[in-house]
Amino acid sequence: MRTPVCESLGIEYPIFAFSHCGDVVAAVSRAGGMGVLGAVAFSPEELERELDRIEKNAGGKPYGVDVVIPAAYVGKEEGDLEKLDLEKLVPEEHRRFLEQLLEKYDVPPLPEGVAGVESLLGWSDTMGRALIDVAMSYPIKLLANALGPPPADVIDRAHAAGVQVAALVGRADQAVKQKDAGVDIIVAAGYEAGGHTGEVSTLVLVPEVVDAVAPLPVLAAGGIGSGRQMAAAMALGAQGVWAGSLWLATHENDWQPMMKERLLAATSSDTVRTRCITGKPARMLRNEFSDAWDSPESPGALPMPLQYLATAEPQQRIRTAVLAGNESAAALTVTPVGQIVGSMNQLRATRQVMSEMINEYLDTVERLAGGMEEREG
Ligand SMILES: Cc1cc2nc3c(=O)[nH]c(=O)nc-3n(C[C@H](O)[C@H](O)[C@H](O)COP(=O)(O)O)c2cc1C
Repeated sequence: MRTPVCESLGIEYPIFAFSHCGDVVAAVSRAGGMGVLGAVAFSPEELERELDRIEKNAGGKPYGVDVVIPAAYVGKEEGDLEKLDLEKLVPEEHRRFLEQLLEKYDVPPLPEGVAGVESLLGWSDTMGRALIDVAMSYPIKLLANALGPPPADVIDRAHAAGVQVAALVGRADQAVKQKDAGVDIIVAAGYEAGGHTGEVSTLVLVPEVVDAVAPLPVLAAGGIGSGRQMAAAMALGAQGVWAGSLWLATHENDWQPMMKERLLAATSSDTVRTRCITGKPARMLRNEFSDAWDSPESPGALPMPLQYLATAEPQQRIRTAVLAGNESAAALTVTPVGQIVGSMNQLRATRQVMSEMINEYLDTVERLAGGMEEREG
């Protein structure tokens, strides 16, 4: 099961776990995989706290950090987004639409004393770099970037520190660009993936990307939830798998119990690929929020990062209302997840998810090899 990418990163199993939750990251790394912490929603101080936690709990095993420096977004040419008055670029029509939606579901304004969303968090070059500064002050082994090649100086900096760079792609031509930029590991994320995703299915995308960037290692992402799916990914030429949704249904994941219940109840037909979260297509559980943005009354999603900017505070109000027991507000909560959610039917310990995937992978490979032997015999 060990592939060259395991050797180069010092891990036992080629299972990569994207999670925003440090406890999941530490548990996967401890179990022999590679936990990768999604940093986009953290401030630099929060990221530091989460990395301290991982350092304490990962048992000295390798782990990584994932940031989002999009190759294209409104305001990128102008430089520091924090200094631009992006708020002014959010049309009144969008604000009104959101306000009416929240009113319909009885979502009140933020209670006094609860601070609003202060910044664009990680969705920009400036903020992404601030997070990278923090990440690079820890002994990480992998730095991943979504939505385009990481800037050249970021790649050089990582390499100088002995850190490998991974990047997510949804098309083979994007993978070639990443290879040319000097990225070490390509994560090919298919249509069925949770979060930002392209239009090509994992089954078609992975071999295309493997062929396009050989001999660079490719990890298959999108729809990986079991050892059988892992074996399929390896059969396509991947050196490992990168899963994101799977870890949401674990005891370690810090999501509210009500959101976990929704995941357990959902089928593989219950997700939608929508621009309503960030302005770029991303997959989430279909709900009243995504339906509203798809409805004829919708003003249409804004380009990144304006859509996130427009919806960040409303989403914070929704979360606050849900926490206060407002059940109707729960229908509007953004829950990014992939189609594999249909197979996520029970909460498990992260360690158990790892061991079940490994065992089923080994059984599958044996079953396939047995079939071959029978044919030959
Ligand atoms: C809740 C959630 C949040 C995500 N956020 C990010 C992110 O911030 N950065 C990133 O590179 N990928 C993100 N992703 C995508 C994952 O890295 C990965 O590509 C995807 O989950 C793989 O498909 P799967 O969901 O079928 O496992 C996210 C996925 C989920 C489910």
